[in-house]
Amino acid sequence: MKKNDIRIENLNKSFDGEKVLNNINLTIDDGEFFTILGPSGCGKTTLLRMIAGFISPDSGAIYLGDKNIVNLPPNKRNVNTIFQKYALFPHLTVYENIAFTMRIKRLPENMIKSEVSKYIDLVGLQDHINKKPNQLSGGQQQRVSIARALINKPGVLLLDEPLSALDAKLRQNLLIELDNIHDEVGITFIFITHDQQEALSISDRIAVMNKGNILQVGTPAEVYEAPVNSFVADFLGDNNFFEGEIISIIDDTFAKLKNPILGEITIEMDKKIKIGDYVRVSIRPEKLKLSKVKPVHSIKNPNILKVYVHEVIYSGFQSKYFVWINNNKEMPFKIFKQHAIYFDEEDEEVVWWDEEAYIYWDADDGFLVEVIQDEAR
Ligand SMILES: Nc1ncnc2c1ncn2[C@@H]1O[C@H](COP(=O)(O)OP(=O)(O)OP(=O)(O)O)[C@@H](O)[C@H]1O
Ligand SMILES: [Mg+2]
Repeated sequence: MKKNDIRIENLNKSFDGEKVLNNINLTIDDGEFFTILGPSGCGKTTLLRMIAGFISPDSGAIYLGDKNIVNLPPNKRNVNTIFQKYALFPHLTVYENIAFTMRIKRLPENMIKSEVSKYIDLVGLQDHINKKPNQLSGGQQQRVSIARALINKPGVLLLDEPLSALDAKLRQNLLIELDNIHDEVGITFIFITHDQQEALSISDRIAVMNKGNILQVGTPAEVYEAPVNSFVADFLGDNNFFEGEIISIIDDTFAKLKNPILGEITIEMDKKIKIGDYVRVSIRPEKLKLSKVKPVHSIKNPNILKVYVHEVIYSGFQSKYFVWINNNKEMPFKIFKQHAIYFDEEDEEVVWWDEEAYIYWDADDGFLVEVIQDEAR
């Protein structure tokens, strides 16, 4: 147990009889960049405000290090919060906004000067120290907020969607800066976002939330590559879903399911499935292969399906193919490829998506099989 570990135990909260946080258990390591990711209204801000001390839980404990802080007021918790809205003092300059808490503490002027300069450098506002908040861009204002929070030397910095008011490009730049600042100061950051791309690119670990529950905690690669259920599989990145009944267990490695449109599909065997179960399968668009030539059916390529490519979207670094399996609109799949390899010279005369096309994938190509209806029930 380190000084600024956070341990949340059995935390519950209801508003007006409506459960907003449902028995949250979470451990965040000292120095970690930890992200809470989930859709609007899932309880992210409520959880963060509880860590900050602005809301009390109905039950449960929050430990900072080995101390339960649940009954401490916000200013006794050694945590600082940065909000979506900048909340700066409009009449004070950048310098004075950042110096504010040190002045309240009546610290010596030379100490204030050296500390404020240090944090102004850290957030890159050297050229703006005498400006008032209304003379700054949104990104610059948020940098002031970051410096103003960090100068208090909190053990934990809580960030509630600090970038959401900024435009996309600026958001990306500030995200990288935030990552650098985190490396520089080395304290625990708890970052809230509903943007999965933001979460994947910056976090040491991510907690995926929905409807007051934590569904999965893991590194970005873990939650992306091995989602625990179809909500997580769908919320992070893109995915294709289909459902079917397990009709045979081939061996320890593979099983077969039947779907009315897809036919028989070989999937990776999961210990929990058995004949008669109804399962949902998801496979990422980038795991699928697309070919104009029918590949040879083999153990390596057990699933070969004829598709109709009804739309191709070129988006620079990749192309997105929207296909209907067996020309059936009821079974749309997305396939993402890094290069538009299907547009070669031979394709000038023929529109290739009028030809026969196939998708295929290895049965062990990394997808999720979720039992949604147990045969025993
Ligand atoms: N003070 C309150 N009184 C009543 N209900 C509240 C209160 N604060 C939050 N809620 C409700 O609790 C739920 C979770 O709200 P919360 O602000 O934690 O969501 P969020 O995940 O931060 O969403 P967003 O991404 O939109 O910020 C919502 O349904 C919200 O309406
Ligand atoms: Mg919120």
